[in-house]
Amino acid sequence: MANIIYITEDGNRHEVEVESGSSIMDGAVNNGIEGIVAECGGACACATCHSFIAPEWLDKIPKKDDMEEFMLENVVGNKANSRLTCQVEVTDALDGLIVYVAQN
Ligand code: FES
Repeated sequence: MANIIYITEDGNRHEVEVESGSSIMDGAVNNGIEGIVAECGGACACATCHSFIAPEWLDKIPKKDDMEEFMLENVVGNKANSRLTCQVEVTDALDGLIVYVAQN
């Protein structure tokens, strides 16, 4: 279990408990976080779960695989700290992670 902090586009902060083993996207969808649409349900095929990871957390989360990298290359607004949140598994070590929700 980890507390994940989602900052939505309107600047509001939402701190929610997310089960370890689920994804950052799951945590958002299950808690009604606006902006993480997740059209493909986590199959790394839609990019509507795109978000930005707070820079201080980038080296603490698992790296992107080739498929995620490819999908992100085609996302408008892609930045160095962009991630598809369905591809990042939550662990206890991510307690306090800050995620800035992109415009999806
Ligand atoms: S939910 Fe579709 S790519 Fe993440």
